[in-house]
Amino acid sequence: MTSEAPAPRTLPLLDVELLSLFPEIFDSFLRTSLLGKAIEGGIIRVLRTNPRDYARGRHRQVDDSSYGGGPGMVLRPEPVATAIEAVESARGRCHRVLLAPSGRLFEQGRAAELAGRRRLMFICGRYEGVDERIAELFADEVVSIGDYVLAGGEMAAAVVIEAVARLVPGVLGCEESAVDESFSAARLEYPQWTRPATFRGLSVPEILLSGNHAEVATWRRLESLRRTLARRPDLLAGHPLTEDEKALLEGRTGKRRKKSIPAK
Ligand code: 6GU
Repeated sequence: MTSEAPAPRTLPLLDVELLSLFPEIFDSFLRTSLLGKAIEGGIIRVLRTNPRDYARGRHRQVDDSSYGGGPGMVLRPEPVATAIEAVESARGRCHRVLLAPSGRLFEQGRAAELAGRRRLMFICGRYEGVDERIAELFADEVVSIGDYVLAGGEMAAAVVIEAVARLVPGVLGCEESAVDESFSAARLEYPQWTRPATFRGLSVPEILLSGNHAEVATWRRLESLRRTLARRPDLLAGHPLTEDEKALLEGRTGKRRKKSIPAK
């Protein structure tokens, strides 16, 4: 076998273009923790563009009233379209994500898909809406982060960026963490404890102090299932209990089962 050097990776692995009327919202978010380090290390690059800079006229007006009437203002299409085109002319085509409460619900599967792309653009709308022609002409997908209404797409974009960034190779440091966790198999994560063994009268489950790795793994699977059943039964609809899981829940595993802590 020949021992060749691995193919050099060209950094950044992920380019993120943020289109927002309030780009300063992202200041501390982009400087801090995991994402801050990934940007500093050149793994991820994030550039911000304000559509207002592409609005014409003395007032650089970016919004206008809604055709058909109704409250609130709508983001005009022209400054957004011009900003998108300027960004892509300068740096290349992106997979374009429009953040809007009317979008498809964001989940872990979408995060994994986005993490595999080279260039992403997040177009932040405002809650009253963006002219529909932006979605029609430019958006590769429209994404919502949940069934509630935010004042703008910025916080939603931050959520999506954080979920995506931690799946980019080299960002997390401990690549295993991204696999063995909530939603990877439509199951909530098992509870975890660290020192001290007793805190304010509450003790860590004994099994976790036993050093028996097989029993710990089984116990964790069970806790994960019990939690999912209690808090997120909806997750089971798409990923029903396996025979193995049913056996585990019914205590038919052949192994003794320690009393577990009820999921709240
Ligand atoms: Cl992407 N935008 C806004 N404005 N509100 C939301 C959202 C997005 N996702 C959930 N609520």
